Amino acid sequence: MVKITFIDSFGQHRTVEAEEGTTVMENAIRNGIPEIVAECGGGCACATCHVYVDEAFLEKTGKPSEKEEDMLDFAYKVQPNSRLSCQIKVRPELDGMTVTTPDRQG
Ligand code: FES
Repeated sequence: MVKITFIDSFGQHRTVEAEEGTTVMENAIRNGIPEIVAECGGGCACATCHVYVDEAFLEKTGKPSEKEEDMLDFAYKVQPNSRLSCQIKVRPELDGMTVTTPDRQG
């Protein structure tokens, strides 16, 4: 299992155990993480699963695809470390990763 910590916009930390091969978004929904909406269910079509990835893990998560980049244009308060969490696959290298959620989605 891979540990991922979600920090909400109030600074509250929640750590979940994520299974390899699932997405960061799926683990957020499964664990009732607030501030992740995931309206489209992981289809890279809504941008409501937006997170900020801890700089230390940015390289390990890989680069967003062109489709993800296009969808990020619709996300709220986009930063250089913004990603759509449904597009980040859980891998062992991501163990200990922290992602922060924006105070609103969409
Ligand atoms: S869940 Fe819709 S883009 Fe990620």
